[in-house]
Amino acid sequence: MGDPVTEYTARLQQQEQEIQRLSAEVQSLKNPQSLSPSPRLEELREENARLKYRLNILKRSLEEERTHCTKSMMNINQRLQEIFGEAIRASCPDLDNPPLAVTPNQQPKFGDYQCNSAMAMAQMLKTQGVKANPREIAQKIIQNLPDNELIQKTEIAGPGFINIHLKRMFVSKLLTNLLINGVQPPPLASRKKVVVDFSSPNIAKEMHVGHLRSTIIGDSMCRLFEFLGYDVLRLNHVGDWGTQFGMLIAHLQDKFPDYLTVSPPIGDLQAFYKESKKRFDEEEDFKRRAYQCVVRLQSKEPDFIKAWNLICDVSRKEFQKVYDCLDIQIIERGESYYQDMMTEAVKEFEERGLVQQDEGRKIVFAPGQPIPLTVVKSDGGYTYDTSDLAALRQRLFEEKADVIIYVTDSGQGTHFQVVFAAAQMIGWYDPQVTRVEHAGFGVVLGEDKKKFKTRSGDTVRLMDLLEEGLKRSMDKLKDKERDKVLTPEELIKAQRAVAFGCIKYADLSHNRINDYVFSFDKMLDDRGNTAAYLLYAFTRIRSIARLANIDEATLRKAAETTEVLLDHEKEWKLGKCILRFPEILQKILDDLLLHTLCDYLYELATTFTEFYDNCYCVEKDRQTGEVVKVNMWRMLLCEATAAIMAKGFDILGLKPVQRM
Ligand code: ARG
Repeated sequence: MGDPVTEYTARLQQQEQEIQRLSAEVQSLKNPQSLSPSPRLEELREENARLKYRLNILKRSLEEERTHCTKSMMNINQRLQEIFGEAIRASCPDLDNPPLAVTPNQQPKFGDYQCNSAMAMAQMLKTQGVKANPREIAQKIIQNLPDNELIQKTEIAGPGFINIHLKRMFVSKLLTNLLINGVQPPPLASRKKVVVDFSSPNIAKEMHVGHLRSTIIGDSMCRLFEFLGYDVLRLNHVGDWGTQFGMLIAHLQDKFPDYLTVSPPIGDLQAFYKESKKRFDEEEDFKRRAYQCVVRLQSKEPDFIKAWNLICDVSRKEFQKVYDCLDIQIIERGESYYQDMMTEAVKEFEERGLVQQDEGRKIVFAPGQPIPLTVVKSDGGYTYDTSDLAALRQRLFEEKADVIIYVTDSGQGTHFQVVFAAAQMIGWYDPQVTRVEHAGFGVVLGEDKKKFKTRSGDTVRLMDLLEEGLKRSMDKLKDKERDKVLTPEELIKAQRAVAFGCIKYADLSHNRINDYVFSFDKMLDDRGNTAAYLLYAFTRIRSIARLANIDEATLRKAAETTEVLLDHEKEWKLGKCILRFPEILQKILDDLLLHTLCDYLYELATTFTEFYDNCYCVEKDRQTGEVVKVNMWRMLLCEATAAIMAKGFDILGLKPVQRM
């Protein structure tokens, strides 16, 4: 069957003919008024009106879809995969799931993209006992390529590579499209919901570098999902319900007995925590009381909730300072939020007969998992496991999330693996339908490659770290004598953008799975793949137009009237690089590895430099320095580069500055 619009149009035409015929019949009767109108005619008129209405709606939504499709950036790689996928299936219809490999070509002289499927297909056929020559398969694939808008020509190379050359006109049109519509995400089939559980420090304890990593990586993932049009719920799963609260509250009662009426001045929660821990370990009596406090807190006795709130507030304020620096939006929904749901979750496991007793504890074994979850401790309390089961259940059934991501250090990998397996066992979700994933990361090391510590061996306080970043970035700016050119406000802005941008970028530009060495010297270096380099590069690109006295309105106008020429080899290289943005984002969506975006932005910046060194954008008089010629299509290439960089920065949580 054809598309709904053609179908409806055909039906409408038929109906209209019948209406005409019936009306003519009515007319031909001598006294139409005296007759009751033909019921068939009435029926037809009504249905006709309905059909017309449907058709209009359909036409409108189709129109919207089309304009939206053209507004969004095309994923060239994906489009090539569609085209080659079709050709591959047609060439070897008997092959089950033939491999589809299309990649950008590393050596541009051999083409722009490359399809490497033929060799793997020949291999597959061979294992099935069919003799096949990969070059012949490649030939067949080429013969079966469907008509398309973007391939100029293909050629076979070596053992059966297919080199793909793109149409310059088409690439140029895509760039124009980008300039006119801005950087738009690919169209989304349906709006999906994603929960990202990140940052998640523990109350009363210091937020450490591990939490910093989680905060930076998690925030960037959220930004990516937001750009792609997902409905994103950013959750801070703070540790606010553990046994440590027993001793904290008991100590609070002793130290500030009037805490119910006067806010206690606990400035340093760390010290407070240490004191109470010491008593907990040394005083038998205190220990007993501490345990009682946990029970009374968890049964939500008002005075205990009050004490708990006071303590949480102190931590919250500390955390917020870090979030303010790094511009992090996040909703606090700690372990305590799930107290009642933990009871329900445990009940559900018990009712299904999935709980075992183990020396007074209640445990759950999940299929294929070597260690069990402890869902109830011998004293009746709940655990980290219980809170994660309850949280997952809530996110699946109440939030109705399609994607749930946990960003913590890789050390928690097993914990999440067991939690996910248990949830699948009880039937809470099907991994084919819902994506539940732990995005782990390696530990932060000092420059000595040992665990990140201060000189005296203490853990580094995050605020101290951020402040040191600020100081060093200001030193750097002053070294470059930027304080002489920028206004004081611009200087502060640049200082913060560089400091926090560098800390974020250093983290994001490394594969998160690996451990990573924290080095201020490296991250603030303005050579190499660093935020400092990229921020400078961006400011320079933005200033090209400004220095040639071309304002935004002129550029916007030019985008609509000037063809983006790509004749020079470096223009062509840059144009293709700019348009790879959607395929980079798609890859990150699949593997959640953000360093791919950093690598790409770095490549874009260096490709731009190559272009700029080889292609005059603005020609000036050598003597007077006056602008004598502006090559507008090249200015447009600068613009398109800057637009992609700005969007990339946005996803990484970097703030560009106009002047630096
Ligand atoms: N508070 C935990 C920690 O500091 C991280 C929590 C991560 N999220 C979760 N749902 N378990 O290690």
